[in-house]
Amino acid sequence: MRKALIALIVLGLGLSLVIALPRPQSPTEKFHAEDDGLALTPPMGWYPWNIFGEEPQNEKLIKEIVDALVASGLKDAGYAYVGPDEGICFFRGPDGKLSTNLERYPSGLRGLGDYIHRKGLRYALYTDAGTHTCSKAMPGTKGHEFEDMQAFADWRADYIKIDWCNTAGQDIVATYTLLAEAQRAAGRPLVHSLCSWGVGYPWQWAGAIGHMWRTTSDICGPGQADWGMAVRIAFANDKLAPFVGPGHWNDPDMLISGMPGLSETQNRSFFSLWCQMAAPLMAGNDLRDMTPSTVAILTNLEAIAVNQDPLGVQGHVVWNNGNVSLWAGKPLFDGSRAVLLFVHGKYKTARRILWEEVGFSSADELYVRNLWTHETSGPHKGGISVTVEPDDVAFFRISKKNDFPIPPILVADTTLLSLRSTGPHPEKLSGTVTVENKGSASLPPWRIDPESLPSWLTIEVTGSGKSQTFVNTVKTAGLKKGAYHAQVRADNVEPVSGRPMSAFYYDVDLEVPGNMPLRD
Ligand code: GLA
Repeated sequence: MRKALIALIVLGLGLSLVIALPRPQSPTEKFHAEDDGLALTPPMGWYPWNIFGEEPQNEKLIKEIVDALVASGLKDAGYAYVGPDEGICFFRGPDGKLSTNLERYPSGLRGLGDYIHRKGLRYALYTDAGTHTCSKAMPGTKGHEFEDMQAFADWRADYIKIDWCNTAGQDIVATYTLLAEAQRAAGRPLVHSLCSWGVGYPWQWAGAIGHMWRTTSDICGPGQADWGMAVRIAFANDKLAPFVGPGHWNDPDMLISGMPGLSETQNRSFFSLWCQMAAPLMAGNDLRDMTPSTVAILTNLEAIAVNQDPLGVQGHVVWNNGNVSLWAGKPLFDGSRAVLLFVHGKYKTARRILWEEVGFSSADELYVRNLWTHETSGPHKGGISVTVEPDDVAFFRISKKNDFPIPPILVADTTLLSLRSTGPHPEKLSGTVTVENKGSASLPPWRIDPESLPSWLTIEVTGSGKSQTFVNTVKTAGLKKGAYHAQVRADNVEPVSGRPMSAFYYDVDLEVPGNMPLRD
């Protein structure tokens, strides 16, 4: 109850803050993502909070969700970041360091991460910038920033959500800046998701510190979607459109599509809005129990293409008459544009969308791709007429060409190679990591800076077309007994889309059971 009240106050504050928004300054600062190359399109994945809240989270549940994420086709649609939210997964020991709650996570948080990585996915964890997490069930990072960020790196997190509860007296910019420094010092690049619900105007400064920031309060209480709240959040987040770009995103909270409380129409409209706003797509429903319709919505690659567009523009409201709103201003990499007509009021609406309202000229003859029926019509002169029911959307991609390519959407078979040398003699071991592009085009070869690799590892990139393989060769000659680790970074800065893609990272573990001579 108290939490709900706080959430309401924060939402109220958030909404009133965004109304008086300053426009973005000319950005002289350097964005955090310029170094690590992460999240150049909005992160996609799954987080437990919306459907489960804290209590049922444990290793078994998260692993079941991970399996369902793969089996349902969400992985193949680009969803990758997955892991526990606030859910009693670690505690601080007497030495000040974080340890796994082994009762809930018997494989340890590192073991859970390995499970996720072996599925080709990315590991997401949660903490708080204050003394404790929101429910006070777990310790926050205050005063332990460097140790905690080291723990998340040791657990091999690829994403960390950092909440803003229990932070009385803390300066928000200084706190999150220190956490980003601690994260850099820990040496493992990860997506930094700030979660202050709009408090401290993070859109003005958080791009230099992390990759995404919550703009508004929680979208629902655990277990039950709230359509009215979701619509209010969408309109509040809309005001912040000028602040986003590749590697720095407004986060209007996790998805509610597929949760109890929404109709099929609302599920589809919600997903369309989050795609049009270039919002992170962190699914929030129970992936083990989805209707075919929910799966079809969450895996609609044509809608996801709008969200994952490499230009990274947030579509916004161009007009709103109180019953219906037109969301445009979203150019896409191939010269097409995404357009959404949303009936948020009570009345079925017939409207004509005019080409000049959506970024084209009235004389243009344009093709219209309906992103839900997957049908193309046109060429149309001047505009297109549509009829939309309450809570529903018309979601289009509009182009001068009768061709609607999908931008790069990458899916890996694994993000962890574990190699072990067996005998007493030096060996050559190898393992592969394959990355497929579910988008339309073949990609140029991925590049790895050989200087970034340890002396025991060499990598060759093979394959072409939509699928490339990193062939990893390990030579154990001269290595001492022990465990070795490398985090490999691959870049693709000249992709078909004309924009760099997010860097692709994976881990290589090597176990050497005894000292190896230099030669056999
Ligand atoms: C805050 C966040 C939520 C969730 C909870 C956990 O409310 O906004 O997304 O992480 O904390 O307590």
